[in-house]
Amino acid sequence: MLQDDYPLSVLNYQFHSQLFVMPDTASYLKGLFSLDGEVSVLIGGAGELGGALAAGLGQAGAHVIIADMNEDACKIRLEKLKPLGIKASYCTVNITDRTSIKSLLAESLKITGRVDSLVNCAGINAGTPFLEVDPAAWDKIFAVNLKGMMESCQVFIESMLNNPEGGAILNIGSVNSDRPLSRVFAYAASKAGVVNLTQNIAQEFAEKKIRANSICPGFFPAEQNRQILDAKRVENIMNGTPMRRYGTPDELVGAALLLLAKKAGSYITGSSLYVDGGFTCSWF
Ligand SMILES: NC(=O)c1ccc[n+]([C@@H]2O[C@H](COP(=O)([O-])OP(=O)(O)OC[C@H]3O[C@@H](n4cnc5c(N)ncnc54)[C@H](O)[C@@H]3O)[C@@H](O)[C@H]2O)c1
Repeated sequence: MLQDDYPLSVLNYQFHSQLFVMPDTASYLKGLFSLDGEVSVLIGGAGELGGALAAGLGQAGAHVIIADMNEDACKIRLEKLKPLGIKASYCTVNITDRTSIKSLLAESLKITGRVDSLVNCAGINAGTPFLEVDPAAWDKIFAVNLKGMMESCQVFIESMLNNPEGGAILNIGSVNSDRPLSRVFAYAASKAGVVNLTQNIAQEFAEKKIRANSICPGFFPAEQNRQILDAKRVENIMNGTPMRRYGTPDELVGAALLLLAKKAGSYITGSSLYVDGGFTCSWF
């Protein structure tokens, strides 16, 4: 029997607790992180990290479009995705050529009729002592890592503005976005720009339901950094990474789903999520 002096909040709680039906954990998590019915374009998606993200976003329900300048690598990536039973297509693109980016958008819309998210994963690197940095090589790195990213954001956001549900941008930065690392001057400066660009896009389009975030990975062995990983550098990386190991590409997927999923990421924009084994929180 209820007592007259029972606090109202307790009564409410008892009342609601009888009506409330707990959803099972799997459907709750699916609702939070699902990309069901969505289309995600991954530029640089044929590469190591882009490929792992494609597998993750596809398994979360998205139709993934692998977009990359390397057509052979696109085909190989698509073969790797096949056993996962996900919806996937590929399209070649050169992110340094705006016409090519526009064709990618047109082709994506032709294949799927919509684009909900764009993941910018294309990137190049070169390791050179500062006094030997060739201005042409500097421009080439910036053309892919920052200018190309800016142009793909422009082209895809223009299309997302027609979608009443908006869209999401995920740009791949680096631990170099936060701090310089020796011998990769152009790369580091371009990646610092990635975070700044992403924040600017986030504030510009927040009211239009377009969110923009970046993931800043630590060290994940891949083709583009194999050339600069000599023994001394590997030792420095391990000493500077509290977890004392490289990341594996699939360890980026959870962060990507958090930032891309409409429900899980609904109030997240302009953020940079470091997935780096603690590298950026460690000084010595
Ligand atoms: N691997 C790491 O440790 C690491 C760490 C931090 C950040 N990142 C960043 O993550 C992203 C992916 O890196 P990754 O390790 O998977 O490298 P990767 O070399 O395996 O993949 C990069 C992909 O970008 C594509 N690409 C290059 N130039 C292009 C262009 N002009 N147009 C279209 N596609 C182009 C390449 O063909 C390649 O498939 C890059 O932006 C990189 O800077 C990587």
